[in-house]
Amino acid sequence: MALWRALLCCLLAAWPGRPGLGVPLAPTVGAPAEWPRQFWHVTDLHLDPTYHITDDHTKVCASSKGKNASNPGPFGDILCDSPYQLILSALDFIKNSGQEASFMIWTGDSPPHVPVAELSTDMVIKVITNMTTTVQNLFPHLQVFPALGNHDYWPQDQLPIATSKVYSAVADLWKPWLDEEAIRTLRKGGFYSQNVTSNPNLRIISLNTNLYYGPNVMTLNMTDPANQFEWLENTLNTSQQNNEKVYIIAHIPVGYLPFASGVPAMRQYYNDKLVDIFGRYSSIIAGQFYGHTHRDSLMVLSDRKGNPLSSVFVAPAVTPVKDVSQKETNNPGIRLLKYKPGDYTLLDMLQYYLNLTDANLKGVSNWTLEYILTQAYGIEDLQPKNVYALAKQFAALDSKQFPKYYNYFFVSFDSSVTCDQKCKALQICAIMNLDSISYDDCLKQYYVKHNH
Ligand SMILES: *[C@@H]1O[C@H](CO)[C@@H](O)[C@H](O)[C@H]1NC(C)=O
Ligand SMILES: *[C@@H]1O[C@H](CO)[C@@H](O)[C@H](O)[C@H]1NC(C)=O
Ligand SMILES: *[C@@H]1O[C@H](CO)[C@@H](O)[C@H](O)[C@H]1NC(C)=O
Ligand SMILES: *[C@@H]1O[C@H](CO)[C@@H](O)[C@H](O)[C@H]1NC(C)=O
Ligand SMILES: *[C@@H]1O[C@H](CO)[C@@H](O)[C@H](O)[C@H]1NC(C)=O
Ligand SMILES: *[C@@H]1O[C@H](CO)[C@@H](O)[C@H](O)[C@H]1NC(C)=O
Ligand SMILES: *[C@@H]1O[C@H](CO)[C@@H](O)[C@H](O)[C@H]1NC(C)=O
Ligand SMILES: [Zn+2]
Ligand SMILES: [Zn+2]
Repeated sequence: MALWRALLCCLLAAWPGRPGLGVPLAPTVGAPAEWPRQFWHVTDLHLDPTYHITDDHTKVCASSKGKNASNPGPFGDILCDSPYQLILSALDFIKNSGQEASFMIWTGDSPPHVPVAELSTDMVIKVITNMTTTVQNLFPHLQVFPALGNHDYWPQDQLPIATSKVYSAVADLWKPWLDEEAIRTLRKGGFYSQNVTSNPNLRIISLNTNLYYGPNVMTLNMTDPANQFEWLENTLNTSQQNNEKVYIIAHIPVGYLPFASGVPAMRQYYNDKLVDIFGRYSSIIAGQFYGHTHRDSLMVLSDRKGNPLSSVFVAPAVTPVKDVSQKETNNPGIRLLKYKPGDYTLLDMLQYYLNLTDANLKGVSNWTLEYILTQAYGIEDLQPKNVYALAKQFAALDSKQFPKYYNYFFVSFDSSVTCDQKCKALQICAIMNLDSISYDDCLKQYYVKHNH
């Protein structure tokens, strides 16, 4: 116990008028303060077009891969990717929420989890087209910032370092939201940077972190796939000189997987390189937003001396899918982030979710607020120093906050879920340590304890 305590102590929507096709609007006259100061984040939609209710539960969805669906209903099943109706219910909720947002970020993964042979480049493009068209039809005046996910390619994970059919297709599909230079780099390498209409001096940098993903053999042994690091540094440097603030968005997050021991979400070399760049430019990076893990998690990037530099937010998926071998999954989730106009400091995050069991039972999708970050944990705002202080509270041995965090990690899927000491150590180490050196130090202290 004592050593454990010692470890923890020390670890421790609307645009005014539509742009002409292809070119976002110049800002309209009017004080920026009048603009909505919030944006939506949706991720990991994973549409399964085969989803349908049928008596033979092995046939409900291709994404159950021959297994019986668990309790399939109109809004989906925990062994299946999203039916169209689930995705539509999420987007309808956003549309009818009464919350005016100034933009939306969408961090990738539209196709289903099915064997490679059951998809094709054309099918992947078809699914991305369907999702893009659905969003554009529902929100014709909203600027949306997408990022590509590892499933947004065929074969999955193999996103290339030069142009491809998929990059070219999304460059055409996403033209209404992006300017020419953004479309050019998107077509070439699957990444872009774009300023935000009506949000002066705010830039979104959408990275193709799939190039850094372990299973991607296209980038094996490369030091700078698609020259994205060089581009990123140049882009951040220019933003700094232009007094811009930046939100980083991407599919695969920086840092370590919070449910595994010593596994970064991307290859370690690339992770450490990205973390280093984000650290050096933390004064202009006002937030980082990712998907991919399908879970709701926080991270805070600190410097070598432990000074918090940057807050990182991983959003849970819309798809509830899990593998038969897994006990827990996530309820479908979407979120709203509030920021201060002008300096783009993050003020709060509202996590919304659908109780899938309840929705299927009643046949209606009652999307509701799950929690408000500042209120759930009693913190002032989402600035790095406050997220860092919160992580320290989580780390305390008798933390009342941490069980709450762990329930939200699965989007309130199972309120009886518990996290033992090892589970908690992995979570805390992942929240507070993004680079391999500090993460390994953190875990080492944990193993010192356990080997005694
Ligand atoms: C998307 O696909 C679903 C079926 O999976 C279909 O019902 C819907 O009409 C499609 N929407 C668009 C915009 O293509
Ligand atoms: C699916 O469920 C049916 C009926 O309970 C059962 O007969 C069948 O063996 C199950 N199939 C699989 C793959 O588990
Ligand atoms: C966005 O950038 C373009 C050119 O890069 C510039 O013309 C435009 O004024 C910028 N818009 C905003 C809102 O900063
Ligand atoms: C990558 O580097 C490793 C170790 O240096 C080497 O074993 C491997 O063959 C290389 N792979 C490729 C595709 O070059
Ligand atoms: C940005 O680029 C300029 C000019 O190339 C260089 O002098 C400066 O050191 C760079 N800034 C950072 C923070 O790297
Ligand atoms: C979700 O709905 C089910 C069925 O109505 C209910 O038993 C469960 O408590 C609900 N979960 C939450 C977190 O409200
Ligand atoms: C929807 O959820 C809210 C919050 O959990 C609850 O108060 C309300 O009764 C629910 N409405 C329906 C129609 O189930
Ligand atoms: Zn995903
Ligand atoms: Zn993914």
